[in-house]
Amino acid sequence: MKTDHVQSSVRALTVHAPRAPLSGSIHVPGDKSISHRSLMFAALARGTTQITGLLEGEDVLRTADAMRALGATITRNGAGNWTVVGCGLDGLSEPADVLDMGNSGTAARLLSGILASHGFTSVMTGDASLRGRPMKRVMDPLAATGATFLSRQGGRLPLAIAGNANPPPLSYRLPVASAQVKSAVLLAGLNAVGETRVEEPVATRDHTENMLRHFGASVHVEPLGAGGRVITLQGRPDLLACDIVVPGDPSSAAFILVAALLVPGSKVSVRGVGLNPLRTGLFTSLREMGADLVITNECVEGGEPVGDITATACALHGVDVPATRAPSMIDEYPVLAVAAAHATGQSRFRGLEELRVKESDRLSATVALLEANGVRVEVVGDDMIVHGTGGAIPGGGLVQTRMDHRLAMSAIVMGLAARKPVSVDDTAFIDTSFPGFITLMNSIGAGLAA
Ligand code: S3P
Repeated sequence: MKTDHVQSSVRALTVHAPRAPLSGSIHVPGDKSISHRSLMFAALARGTTQITGLLEGEDVLRTADAMRALGATITRNGAGNWTVVGCGLDGLSEPADVLDMGNSGTAARLLSGILASHGFTSVMTGDASLRGRPMKRVMDPLAATGATFLSRQGGRLPLAIAGNANPPPLSYRLPVASAQVKSAVLLAGLNAVGETRVEEPVATRDHTENMLRHFGASVHVEPLGAGGRVITLQGRPDLLACDIVVPGDPSSAAFILVAALLVPGSKVSVRGVGLNPLRTGLFTSLREMGADLVITNECVEGGEPVGDITATACALHGVDVPATRAPSMIDEYPVLAVAAAHATGQSRFRGLEELRVKESDRLSATVALLEANGVRVEVVGDDMIVHGTGGAIPGGGLVQTRMDHRLAMSAIVMGLAARKPVSVDDTAFIDTSFPGFITLMNSIGAGLAA
């Protein structure tokens, strides 16, 4: 089955503050990082994997198409309920056409690791945003597998990969805190004889490690210095199909919870949210700002901690977020900046260099989002300083979302909390990570135009 997910045409939106508080108890779609990995790892395993709660966003659908093109049989049985018949390690076959990864950096980078260690040639491309993003960060370590890479200037897609079916195991120290680069190196190691080793000076999301273990691989993690880790993977594991339950995406819940904190009188619960400690930096930062966030019903589901989070609107104050926290909330800075704009006093977010290479240059795009709506913001080196308005964001601006789903959702949250309406040039890219966002927001009272 080929999935129909051509990026829809431009969808502009003007967001007004709602007349009444937001309220309700809802679920958000499945975690994007875990969804990509579910499809990829299941395609590499022997047997049939059942996935429940898969995110059906554009990015993940691209991964499904790519793994099909590489030989896996992938079927959608119902909403979020998918079956993957794997090819077994080393069982993927040469794709007949270019693999189009759409807007997804995670899909492109993780797949590079898999393709580098398969003995065939493939070509990857993506949309204009992805074609502008750096792939050199994975090409550099993966070159040591013996694979050959041919990209556009500056290591940009389209990228041709002539893989090596018998790669040596790699040993690599991450120069940037990136779960995608870590994962690419580990995935190349699946086909290598011996031990692949990755050192990360700051711990990043560990879904690859946890899920490969779940599929039967031997993965060891040891602490390294203050907050780092060393990960070792034994090559050529017998990956066996296993069932996967995908938790709700904390990075998607973020928009709803911040909206509830900012719209006066609101109280909203998001149920079944992933609470992996390497993903929850936003909740720590919001609490430091005085946010009323309560977590209940904590349990472990499919190897990941999960819980319900309730946000109740309250006054927030400024916060100083250390650079070491960035990996655990790397996708949440635009919406935290909206919270900081609403707060009283100054906030400083440190060490944001990685934001420059996301779906857009999120550092400059977040500055533009705030400035267009009358909020004072500065960038000093790699730090962002937001001057809070004490609950009085002027609004009235037009936000350019730059093909970036998280910018679009942050702009909508800002519009709900601002004095004058906020216009968003294009909300279509929200579908990459959060299909149904506008409908869900309306179910809690946001009153967004369809
Ligand atoms: C992701 C890692 C992060 C994050 C992205 C998803 C992943 O990227 O921004 O949305 O699933 O591994 P980096 O590894 O580039 O920090």
